[in-house]
Amino acid sequence: MLSGMRGGLFMGLLLALAAVLFVDVQDAQAEYGDVVINNHSDGAGMRPVIFPHWFHRVRFACKVCHADLGFKFKAGGNDINMVKIIDGQFCGACHNGEVAWSVENCNLCHSAKPGTPTQVHESTIQKLAQPVGAPQKK
Ligand code: HEC
Ligand code: HEC
Ligand code: HEC
Repeated sequence: MLSGMRGGLFMGLLLALAAVLFVDVQDAQAEYGDVVINNHSDGAGMRPVIFPHWFHRVRFACKVCHADLGFKFKAGGNDINMVKIIDGQFCGACHNGEVAWSVENCNLCHSAKPGTPTQVHESTIQKLAQPVGAPQKK
């Protein structure tokens, strides 16, 4: 009886772990705190942009983007377009082929499912990224 309960608990833990791993592998595209930017993309026939905030936060101080580059603290709160990016503003301050890969890699930024609204994406459960052609995690 007791060992049966333990076995059940153990199986439960295994299943829970499997579920976590499954979700992690399946939905690794969208990490906690990713920002979807879609002020213009849908209208221009491009997939919306997923900005992986955490990925950048571990590499740069907040100040680099939010003071020096002038990013406002609001999802969708910066009127970004490709002319500005190619001119070296916003994402273009780094995605210029020097600090990071350059703007030709459209799909690495425009990676969300069409129609995904501007938002801060809080979980790994929802799927933001379009599977086909989306960038690999690493
Ligand atoms: C480094 C990230 C990044 C890359 C690479 C990138 N974009 Fe963008 N792009 C953005 C962001 C951010 C916006 C603003 C999104 C919004 O508000 O919908 C944007 C907006 C746009 C828009 C709508 C506004 C406008 O300028 O007309 C178009 C069209 C667009 N991108 C096309 C492209 C194409 C084509 C490429 C590849 C040649 C590309 N983008 C590469 C980040 C990027
Ligand atoms: C590489 C650039 C970069 C770095 C570094 C960075 N951020 Fe951001 N942050 C952004 C961008 C881009 C957005 C979204 C802006 C947009 O959608 O126009 C954003 C959005 C935000 C938001 C608004 C989210 C919301 O709820 O709307 C907050 C808060 C924020 N950042 C805080 C921080 C903090 C705190 C740090 C440092 C620990 C940091 N950021 C580092 C680029 C950066
Ligand atoms: C302060 C510099 C900086 C700014 C500003 C910046 N990035 Fe990046 N970004 C980087 C670096 C560095 C990498 C890593 C490049 C590499 O691995 O070669 C990166 C990687 C990425 C990746 C790939 C993440 C992954 O999982 O591999 C995406 C997507 C991305 N950036 C989108 C954006 C978008 C969209 C913006 C503007 C809203 C932006 N970045 C602004 C420096 C920046």
